Amino acid sequence: MSPNNQPEPNPSFARSMELFERARRVIPGGIYGHANPSLVGPGNSPYYATKASGCRYWDADGNEFIDYMCGYGPIVLGYQNREVEEAAEKQRHDGDCLNHPGPVMVDLAERLVSLVDFADWCVFGKNGSDMTTWALQVARQHTQRKKILMAEGAYHGIDPWCVPGHGGIIEEDRAHIHTFKWNDPQSLLDLAQIHADDIAAIITTPYHHPAFADSELPNNDFLAAIKDVRERHGCLWILDDIRAGFRLHLGGSHCYFGFTPDLACYSKAIANGYPLAACVGSENLKISSTKVFLTGSFWNGTVAMAAALKTIEILERDDGISRMEEMGTRLRNGLSQSAERHGLSITCSGPPAIPFLTFSNESNFFRSQHFSTECIKRGAFIHPHHNWFLSTAHTEADIDQTIAIADTAFESVKTRFED
Ligand SMILES: Cc1ncc(COP(=O)(O)O)c(C=O)c1O
Repeated sequence: MSPNNQPEPNPSFARSMELFERARRVIPGGIYGHANPSLVGPGNSPYYATKASGCRYWDADGNEFIDYMCGYGPIVLGYQNREVEEAAEKQRHDGDCLNHPGPVMVDLAERLVSLVDFADWCVFGKNGSDMTTWALQVARQHTQRKKILMAEGAYHGIDPWCVPGHGGIIEEDRAHIHTFKWNDPQSLLDLAQIHADDIAAIITTPYHHPAFADSELPNNDFLAAIKDVRERHGCLWILDDIRAGFRLHLGGSHCYFGFTPDLACYSKAIANGYPLAACVGSENLKISSTKVFLTGSFWNGTVAMAAALKTIEILERDDGISRMEEMGTRLRNGLSQSAERHGLSITCSGPPAIPFLTFSNESNFFRSQHFSTECIKRGAFIHPHHNWFLSTAHTEADIDQTIAIADTAFESVKTRFED
């Protein structure tokens, strides 16, 4: 540590730091949101990326990393997938932002409606937040009710009703948003009882993936309680599948966990990095959905839609979902065995394709932070307190190289914290 308690500047990231200094003068905070470097390893991690290919990327200093964040989810087939890039380039050649939607929008809507078992229609936006907020409005329009029930700690985007921060929010923004505890059926049933006749929707992710905590898959009693509230109180179930969609099951993550929502929102992995979001719904909500205004200057962009069609085609053709599950399982097993060898107690949570690792009984994330810094130093980019992502571009060799890197990082954790 330097005398003012800042981490010593690491020369491996000198160019990143230099850019950050320039950025701070002209961009509030330098880098905002989830990419803010204070969240990974201040001074000890890359701040700027320059290029990427497959499951690897290079930072502004020329350091190379095996990547386990995949652009925080969107990169499902690996960076710069040749077939997706060709499809996007072909479409870009003909025009992206046009006065009208392109035929590709109809093709993609048909594709999604045929893939997602309960879907009868589909609309598009750009970001996940576009869709979760719109889905809420559709639920309110359809039920003519106000209340929304959501899980404590769940992330649904940056609109005022759900943004995790408090800046710029007024009480009224959240006046009708109420929280229950994930995997606690009684907490949901009690909440539903209080708001009985005014519940428009329950919004959930397919499994719980909060930052700074282990991921939790839904238990059967909890899923049964959601169904029970939906039936008893006549509200809708909105699935926010933005983070997990197209990584766990091609038909949507509800198929992976075995339930059926009324509306589902997708984004991230749908177009392998091109900006696109979608919401699908059942026939009975079609008329209500047309009553909630939906648009954006760039929302009809054809390139992202062409990229999505190709991404889905490749995922299906190559059984990409099984591939990610297999590589994620290999990674999890390797990490568990390595930690055990070093006498460290870790928890690997989440589905294999969206894994996460914490050190057991640690609330301050110091071990996680040290572990991730040590992995980054040796060329594997993993996040200390946000779930990771696999892509179909990760090979056995990449996973084994990562496990070897992690083995050294575990040793360093052991020496620093436990010896
Ligand atoms: C579960 C979930 N919902 C919604 C969002 C918001 O998506 P976006 O950042 O594209 O607005 C995210 C983004 O991380 C997410 O993980």
